[in-house]
This record gives sequence, structure tokens and C-alpha cells, in this order.
Amino acid sequence: MEVIKQASAIREIVQELRCSGKRIGFVPTMGALHEGHLSLLRASAQDNDITICSIFVNPTQFNNAEDYSLYPRTLAQDVELLKTVGCDYVFAPVAQDIYPQQSLLQFSFGPLEAVMEGEHRPGHFNGVATVVGKLFHLVQPHRAYFGQKDLQQVAIVKQLVLGLSFDVELVRYPTLREPDGLALSSRNKRLSPEQRQLAVSLYKALQLAKGLLPLKPVTSIKEAVAAYLQGIDQVQLEYFEIAHPDTLQPLAQAQGEPEVALCIAAFVGEVRLIDNILVNLNEAQIVA
Ligand code: PAJ
Repeated sequence: MEVIKQASAIREIVQELRCSGKRIGFVPTMGALHEGHLSLLRASAQDNDITICSIFVNPTQFNNAEDYSLYPRTLAQDVELLKTVGCDYVFAPVAQDIYPQQSLLQFSFGPLEAVMEGEHRPGHFNGVATVVGKLFHLVQPHRAYFGQKDLQQVAIVKQLVLGLSFDVELVRYPTLREPDGLALSSRNKRLSPEQRQLAVSLYKALQLAKGLLPLKPVTSIKEAVAAYLQGIDQVQLEYFEIAHPDTLQPLAQAQGEPEVALCIAAFVGEVRLIDNILVNLNEAQIVA
């Protein structure tokens, strides 16, 4: 496995690989790798000839300076982990190579960015789209792997690929969880032991909502989730939505939908966490 720091170097490597007919799988990350990231890398190593992982804490997608500065940076440790999962190249660029000048590009994703993460983190998806677009140009993957953990990000990247005609196949991979249900996240490293125990309440809230889906209307389910989390110390709900799984638009009722996405964001202490589950409603009996 090789660690590449320069954009010009990864361009050359990729060009040679493509000329020799290799299929390239790509997993973009911001590092502080955990089993969730590694599951994407294992899938890529299995499906493609060559796997490239990028590690870049992208400044343009953080709408909160403190969140950016506190984001864990563990490159040496990440490189060791990547050696164990069939990764061939780690692309860990310096910011100057990705942003040689201040980024002024503006994307618009319409209603998709007006809700949930888009609504609560202004500019976030513009930064994500900018960096993913740049990384796709540099790495030129045949396939790129993204986690369902960031469901709205997958939808944004899908629009980016269609909108700019990137020749890349997107793979959405299921969320990896701790045994108690907490979704793995680099930000979990910032939780105190006590907060770590409380953080599972996001997953529990999703399970509570899932149980109520066939029984209660959307407004009552939202109230139940809010009431549940209000009773938990240090946990502050930001949003809970029942949304269409592709458009991510909030649903006023779940009836008639084959599948819905239950999405949540909450602060646990100072740490903002998100989670979601997809629920198949085909067999459930929904009331109005
Ligand atoms: P990051 O948060 O490092 O996540 C990298 C990839 O790992 C994303 O596709 C994310 O959805 C996935 N992932 C995170 N936690 C996961 C879990 N518990 N199970 C499965 N997959 C998980 O997402 C980003 O970085 C950035 O926005 C990026 C796309 C790299 C652009 O900067």
C-alpha cells in the first residue's frame, strides 16, 4: 500500500492503472477511521482490482469552526488500519492541492438541501459536492462507496454524478453499529464515557418510531420521539423526520409509501450526531 500526498502524483497513478485496464474502487473519507469506513473499504477491495481511500478533512463542508478544529486527525493510525483491508493507495492530500484558491463554486440541489442536514448545516452540502467532485476528477474511480449513515449525502452525490455526468457507479453501504445500536462515527471519539452511554438514545428513538409507524400518524410519532429524548440528560434533539427514502422530503403521512427513512440529528453534550434507518412498510398496517 502506498500513501500519496500530491494531487499530481495520484493523477499519474490513476492514469496508468486505467490504461492497463484496472477497475478502480474509491472510498472517500475524512479519516479517524472506524469499522464503518473499513466495511466500505472491504467491499471495494472485493469488487474492484484496485482500491483507493482518500483521507481529507474538508474545510469547506464544516459550517462550524470548532467542529472542524476538533475533528479527530489520526493519519498514522488510519494508514495502519488501511493496510489490513486490501487498500492499495491512500490519497491524503494537503489542503493547498485541493483548494489552490478560495473555493467560490456554488451548487444548488433544490429541495434536497432545504431539509434536515441541508437546513441545519448551511453550506455543508456545497462543501461536500465541491470536494467529492474534485476527488472524482483526481481519482477517476469506476465505483465509489458511500455509507447509508449519511443518507442525504448519498442523495446529494447521486445528483452531483447525474448533474455533471461523472462516469462513476455509486454504491450505498449499510450502517455499521456498536453492539448496543449506536452508529459508528468518528465524532463518537469526542464523547465522554457517560455521553457514550446516552448517545444510544438516538438509535433507541429510531426504534421507538419504527414501532409506532404502523400504529400512529406522523405527528404523534414525532411528538413521541421528542418526548422520549426530552427525558434524557445531555441529549438535545435537533430534528427527527419521517422522509421519502430517495428525495428525503418529509412525509406528512407514511401511508402508501413502500419504504420510509427515519432520520435523526441530536446533540449529545457538545457533539452533534446523526443516524437513520430505512423501514419497509409493505407489510405493515398503517393508520391515518
Ligand atoms: P466521513 O464522515 O469520514 O465518512 C466517510 C464514509 O464513511 C461516508 O460515506 C460515510 O457515510 C461512511 N460511514 C460513516 N460512518 C459509517 C458507519 N457507521 N457505517 C457505514 N459507513 C459509514 O462522509 C464523509 O466523510 C465526507 O463528507 C466525505 C464524503 C469524505 C467528503 O468530504
